[in-house]
Amino acid sequence: MNKILVTGGAGFIGSNFVSYALERWREAEVVVLDKLTYAGNLANLDAVKYDPRFTFIRGDVADEGTVRRAVEGCDAVINFAAETHVDRSILFPREFVFTDVVGTFTLLEVARDVGVERFVQVSTDEVYGSIEEGAFDELAALNPSSPYSASKAGGDFLALAYAKSFELPLMVARSTNNYGPYQYPEKLIPLIITNALEDRPLPLYGDGRQVRDWLYVLDNCEALALLLERGEAGAVYNVGGDCELENVDVTRRILKVLGKPEELITYVKDRPAHDRRYALSCERIKALGWRPATPFDAGLEATVRWYVENEGWWRPLRDAAFEDYYRRQYGGR
Ligand code: NAD
Ligand code: DAU
Repeated sequence: MNKILVTGGAGFIGSNFVSYALERWREAEVVVLDKLTYAGNLANLDAVKYDPRFTFIRGDVADEGTVRRAVEGCDAVINFAAETHVDRSILFPREFVFTDVVGTFTLLEVARDVGVERFVQVSTDEVYGSIEEGAFDELAALNPSSPYSASKAGGDFLALAYAKSFELPLMVARSTNNYGPYQYPEKLIPLIITNALEDRPLPLYGDGRQVRDWLYVLDNCEALALLLERGEAGAVYNVGGDCELENVDVTRRILKVLGKPEELITYVKDRPAHDRRYALSCERIKALGWRPATPFDAGLEATVRWYVENEGWWRPLRDAAFEDYYRRQYGGR
């Protein structure tokens, strides 16, 4: 890897990946292209901002001119840029289609034109939809439930079609729920941690017994780096944490780490079309030698500690997320 373009590199997984990449490839340059939406935050890149191998460009992945400038000289591209929150996609689907479909398309067009050598499209287990028993492998049909997962599925189909039609050396990575430092506090784990720290109610949708598979963010970064190096062109790779838990169980574990009472748990109206369970079979990435290395309890403790120690990072975001939430719930659009 000589020069890697990381789109969405100011978000949660992207910013963790940037630090990881600068460590893993000691000679490589890393360029971040990010629009800095509500979810993008330059503070996530504080640790690398003075690194001479790092460059930041503010811009939209759906804007071809900006993308051309960002891709110039890069031999590899990894596309994290997306609108990512399911609840928001139900309220405001338009941005999801623009970024997750049109943005992906724009990046693919420029990548094939320029002749990028490696391309990883970062996708999600949500494209397969819900599964009551067993697990989806990479050949399973896609059955998305929300505008978010439908838009991600659109991006995946375009990416795979570009691999076939234009021989773009591209892999699609579909991972399960990530958790760790720098996750925006609208998502379950950071929401529960930051609410519990202030003894606020912890809203669990429906009966709270939906199942997600949890993957520590740095384990995902390792899988993605491996795909950039050695993934098979045109292939899809599932990336899971081998850690299925009900939401209420995750919440109880957080409360235990923080020493807070379970009475904070509050059951609220369910998410529309809420997927009951996600589960992936990950033999293909495991055949490359990858395993999820971080046990959930260790990853969760490290994550809780990070939020406890970085209140200055999350408080303004949490307050904004809350205001936004109440405006949407009670103040219309
Ligand atoms: P995030 O919401 O934390 O960050 C998204 C980033 O993309 C932000 O920095 C934002 O500013 C940027 N962005 C949004 N629209 C853009 C645009 N039009 N142009 C340029 N930049 C734009 O997201 P995340 O949780 O880090 O997820 C990253 C990727 O991983 C996404 O593609 C998501 O679908 C996928 N994914 C996430 C998870 C998870 O659990 N978080 C699991 C599986 C897959
Ligand atoms: O599965 C991978 C996906 O994980 C990613 O593709 C998405 O970008 C990411 O947002 C995440 O989607 P989820 O919908 O699974 O994550 P979220 O944190 O929103 O919710 C996790 C579970 O917790 C889900 O069953 C809904 C539930 N939940 C969530 C929130 C925010 C609650 O019960 N209460 C809440 O307040």
